[in-house]
Amino acid sequence: MDTPFSLGQPNVCAEAPVENCGIVVFGASGDLVQRKLIPALYGLFRRHMLPARFYILGFARSAMTDEMFRERMRTAITEACGEQNADTLNSFLAMCRYVSGDYNELAAYEQLATRCSVCDMDFDSSGNRLFYLALPPELHPVVVERLSEAGMTGEGHDGRPWARVVFEKPFGHDLASAVTLDNRLSRALEPHQIFRMDHYLGKETVQSILMFRFANAIFEPLWNRRYIDHVQITAAESIGVEHRGGYYDHAGCLRDMFQNHMLQMLAITAMEPPTSFQAEQVREERTKLMRSIRPWPVDELGDWIVRGQYAASQDAAISPLPDYRQEAGVAGDSATETYVAARMLIDNWRWQGVPFLLRSGKGLRRKVSEIAVTFKRVPHSMFGMTSKTQMPANVLVLKIQPDEGIDLTIQTKQPGPKSCMSSMALSFKYQEVFGITPPNAYERLLLDCMQGDRTLFWSREGVEVAWQLIDPVLAAWTERPDLCPLFPYPAGSWGPEAADRMLAATGRRWRRPPEMAGTRITD
Ligand code: NDP
Ligand code: BG6
Repeated sequence: MDTPFSLGQPNVCAEAPVENCGIVVFGASGDLVQRKLIPALYGLFRRHMLPARFYILGFARSAMTDEMFRERMRTAITEACGEQNADTLNSFLAMCRYVSGDYNELAAYEQLATRCSVCDMDFDSSGNRLFYLALPPELHPVVVERLSEAGMTGEGHDGRPWARVVFEKPFGHDLASAVTLDNRLSRALEPHQIFRMDHYLGKETVQSILMFRFANAIFEPLWNRRYIDHVQITAAESIGVEHRGGYYDHAGCLRDMFQNHMLQMLAITAMEPPTSFQAEQVREERTKLMRSIRPWPVDELGDWIVRGQYAASQDAAISPLPDYRQEAGVAGDSATETYVAARMLIDNWRWQGVPFLLRSGKGLRRKVSEIAVTFKRVPHSMFGMTSKTQMPANVLVLKIQPDEGIDLTIQTKQPGPKSCMSSMALSFKYQEVFGITPPNAYERLLLDCMQGDRTLFWSREGVEVAWQLIDPVLAAWTERPDLCPLFPYPAGSWGPEAADRMLAATGRRWRRPPEMAGTRITD
């Protein structure tokens, strides 16, 4: 049946076939594998989107038999996806095997290579292998080097069978470490074998920005400094650091969210149209956009960036979080930021002078990620009852999550004999139109890895350009903390008031429309 938006046109899909392969998951005993990766693979299996001949081979130090690993994965899937059809789940688990070993020992990789060969034969999977590194980042180089020494990263002369490696963020903790990491990886792998994962790029609504911008003729002519007043990009979370305090306290919001997810959302929103939807061209346009971001003026950093740290709310009904400094794994005197708001400018023809206002944080009022494009006001009001400055601007909101969709606010006449104006939203809700919730970002990205499509993955240049931007801020925070103080904010609020003041100084304010206020909505 046609959806109301398909207007009878057939869907147009551009998909390469998924080739038979095996996926070797390093860190298979860990949190990410159980919460995201295995449920995503299971989701693909349930929808018949995995290759016909496929296997999953877990690898970690923890000693487990195949059966123990399968039971762990059964629990993980049930927790993530709810009660499942036992036959479907058993068929999926039958493809899962496990081998334990030390990440540093070559002998463990030789044993792994033997298990892979057995699986290749048992599952008739053509010898193609995807290595997924769900491991603390400091282990990434050694794992790749041992894989290479064990002869597992080589590919056939025609690229078949293939070997690809997926890396989870973070990609280094600053520019120097990212360059060192990239140099080590490039000694063992060809660029086309490297997949740097940013799960925001796999979110359905982030991908749909590209089609929204470049498959419709009506928005692109307005998408520039002439018509757009400013753009706000928000990634707010109500949760705290949960069980990841040890990692987060060394990372902080700027590294954890800004260096990757926030900059990618900015790049997709602002980049120039690539000449075609080919991986290298799309990646290059994103990187080019990042290169055009004006570095923050370090001496005036406080006018451009506000950082904050959550403290317990006075009212546990608003947020049950403790002070950040009392979270497990966090130093009692931690100066790590859990919130960042930043003003950014892009030095190119299209965006000269248009502020991009980005904010992200944990312990905020509610979970919401969105990109809100505020257009300039009308040049003149011909309606007597309202002046030009009272007439609200049109705002286009790309709702990344939750309530995925697109809203465009417009002014309209209220029905009735008087000339009254009111704002309303033209609203497209993904769930209502397509009847499904958008798939898990990992599903899409895993499929892309199996198809060898790197469009939605970071390039080496992109990672390095992002760190070039972030590094001076991290240095200034350490060396001259007075330039940009750390403001506490109550958990369950919208962040420190200093962030409101920063925007007020530019004559703007953060979006807090009714649907972003109201009662607390958890992640
Ligand atoms: P975990 O801390 O759960 O580690 C994964 C596995 O690695 C562990 O089960 C453990 O397996 C092994 N391991 C952990 N620490 C060490 C160590 N010091 N030395 C040797 N082995 C170790 O990580 P996550 O699963 O949370 O994350 C994996 C990767 O994904 C990381 O790069 C993380 O930054 C990234 N990531 C995670 C997210 C999440 O929500 N969890 C979100 C986004 C990215 P064993 O002891 O059995 O070998
Ligand atoms: C991860 C960060 O990359 O993204 C986490 O490490 C954060 O700290 C998460 O919670 C947010 O992702 P999402 O998809 O829940 O918005």
